[in-house]
Amino acid sequence: MLSRESVNSASSGFWMKSIGHLVVLSSLFCLISGYSERDRVNDLMSRYPLIDGHNDLALQLRILHNNRLSQVDLYNISKVSTDITRLQAGHVQAQMFAVYVLCRAQDKDAVRLTLEQIDVIRRMCTEYQDFELVTSAEELRNSEMRHKIACLISIEGGHSIDSSLPALRMFYQLGVRSMTLTHSCNTPWAESSSKLYNVFQRQNNSLTHFGKAVVEEMNRLGMIVDLSHTAWDTASAALKHSKAPVIFSHSSSFSVCSHGRNVPDWLLLDLKKNRGLIMVNIHNNFVSCSNKANISHVADHFDHIKKVIGAESIGIGGDFEGAVGFPQGLEDVSKYPALIQELLLRNWTENELADVLRKNFLRVFEEVERVRDQLTMNRPSEFQIALEEVQNPCRLVLRPPSPRGSSHQSPSSGAQHEPKVMLILAIVLLLSSLLMFE
Ligand SMILES: *[C@@H]1O[C@H](CO)[C@@H](O)[C@H](O)[C@H]1NC(C)=O
Ligand SMILES: *[C@@H]1O[C@H](CO)[C@@H](O)[C@H](O)[C@H]1NC(C)=O
Ligand SMILES: *[C@@H]1O[C@H](CO)[C@@H](O)[C@H](O)[C@H]1NC(C)=O
Ligand SMILES: [Zn+2]
Repeated sequence: MLSRESVNSASSGFWMKSIGHLVVLSSLFCLISGYSERDRVNDLMSRYPLIDGHNDLALQLRILHNNRLSQVDLYNISKVSTDITRLQAGHVQAQMFAVYVLCRAQDKDAVRLTLEQIDVIRRMCTEYQDFELVTSAEELRNSEMRHKIACLISIEGGHSIDSSLPALRMFYQLGVRSMTLTHSCNTPWAESSSKLYNVFQRQNNSLTHFGKAVVEEMNRLGMIVDLSHTAWDTASAALKHSKAPVIFSHSSSFSVCSHGRNVPDWLLLDLKKNRGLIMVNIHNNFVSCSNKANISHVADHFDHIKKVIGAESIGIGGDFEGAVGFPQGLEDVSKYPALIQELLLRNWTENELADVLRKNFLRVFEEVERVRDQLTMNRPSEFQIALEEVQNPCRLVLRPPSPRGSSHQSPSSGAQHEPKVMLILAIVLLLSSLLMFE
């Protein structure tokens, strides 16, 4: 038999214990849920690892090591934010590596420098087992199953082709699968968002006749047209002209931060119609319009762009190594999970994030390849830019020998007769050899 008192004390003890258990349980639950948030991100990113649109590691290899790859351990590179160890930690499964040569090389040795940057990326991606150079959407998909980090090569700045479609084609042969039409300088055929360089300024013609031929040839080859860095008018003209979806590989929203490198809503709507992709740039100046930013600022761009054109048009193009100043909590490529966690907290669904992380890019790349396959009947374009438009004194121009009857016979004009003499000699030799055979 229990006395009333002992019943009371037993029941109060029971409640005390229960409350104690509850406290322990709830703090345990917090701990578990804290972990599960991170686990959820890791699980999501393991299933849908990131394809990142833009990284300038090759530029840093040039600046810091003059492209001497033997001096660098790609698993642990100091003074940069990108190496294999951190790419793996950040679930970055594919990286578009930018081939960037300074605008000052335009009309000088831009093509040589471009070749050298392609070389260093190709070396990087073939000499290290964890990297794999890929040139098609299928290879990109396969590289994930092989647990490799896929490298895609992308030229940053149309000045790299020196206004030559044959040069563009040869870069494709070397593995280049995308190109921004400009960097911070105008080319003779497309306009930049930046007015930093006073070159090739023109009116009302932000994508010239030749510029349109470049876009067409990229469509024909299956090279992705990248509009980051171009003037809005150029981007708008290219969007109208391209038969395939295009990308902004590393640009953010102008509505959220009014920087000229960002994309205004009206242009985003054109991009949606084109089924293209904007891969959000996370550099401080482009996300917060100041030299300080955090993950909230970056997430605001994702929220806004989703509101305007939907998650199916969004990707990520970090721009690491191409700029100084990255948001608190997103200081290097290993930190991408923090961004995905923030978007999950903002009620982005796992399907939307799978699209953003990789499915949108794969869709665009596949569509670019499909357009290429539809254009196989088209011959390589022989369109040439007019010399007056290039204004490049370094160009060697080969012309046929001038026609006879030139009024000014220079002292060296005797040399011009040499080919004719050689031709006559060749004909005589040919005729005599024919006669001999008879
Ligand atoms: C990377 O190299 C530095 C020395 O350059 C060293 O201090 C650091 O521990 C290395 N990090 C890793 C992850 O190996
Ligand atoms: C450019 O457009 C403006 C009006 O937008 C016009 O006044 C000007 O003549 C045009 N220039 C050229 C070269 O077509
Ligand atoms: C980011 O900075 C803004 C102020 O600029 C602040 O309101 C916000 O709480 C910060 N977010 C994070 C995640 O620190
Ligand atoms: Zn850039």
